[in-house]
Amino acid sequence: MINRINQTEHYVRNELKNDFSGHDWYHIHRVRQLALEIGKKENADLYICEMAALLHDIADEKISGSEEAGLLKVRTWLETIGEKKENIETILEIIENMSFKGGTQRKTLSLEGKVVQDADRLDAIGAIGIGRTFAYSGAKGQLMFDPEIPVRDHMTKEEYRNGKSTAVNHFYEKLLKLKDRINTEYARKLAEERHRFMEVFLEQFRLEWDGKK
Ligand code: ADP
Ligand code: NI
Repeated sequence: MINRINQTEHYVRNELKNDFSGHDWYHIHRVRQLALEIGKKENADLYICEMAALLHDIADEKISGSEEAGLLKVRTWLETIGEKKENIETILEIIENMSFKGGTQRKTLSLEGKVVQDADRLDAIGAIGIGRTFAYSGAKGQLMFDPEIPVRDHMTKEEYRNGKSTAVNHFYEKLLKLKDRINTEYARKLAEERHRFMEVFLEQFRLEWDGKK
């Protein structure tokens, strides 16, 4: 088991080595640590949590072109290391259901799925979340803020692809909503603290932008 985790870590490190869209290895590493912490408190299967955390972004369309191609890649990898059929299906189901960012209804997540999803969401908020958002915006050529681009709290998938946004706008489009979508109790406590930190940050940003502080 330990061996399969190590092999998977090497595989994922290599797959993500050229990523600057916020899915670099250290994102995966943090999600894995958080998933293990949350999983312990929830009495979840820690092996499944760790493997799903390690592989969760391989199926992202930003990494693998499409979600389908990404899921096939994960399946092929798990078969290569001789993972049990039952575990393969369990891990794939988690990744398929947690990674999607559209409006389509997905299946209810297993306990381990809820744990990994919480860990992934926690890494999108707080100080780390702020850092990732600004890094992502820079990588995509967006400004950190633009008073001419209205702040909206909802964007369709199409608008996401084509529309203009900024790092600060992304907080209102997505990040400030994550706290209320957390599944587990322990993760919710962490999320509330991280959420407050983002609010303080945004308030200070606004004051500095207006030259008032
Ligand atoms: P994950 O699936 O790992 O949560 P996402 O693909 O949703 O990640 O996003 C990766 C990182 O990039 C996140 O930290 C997120 O806040 C940031 N990000 C995603 N979309 C945008 C955007 N439109 N503007 C600014 N930052 C973004
Ligand atoms: Ni992720």
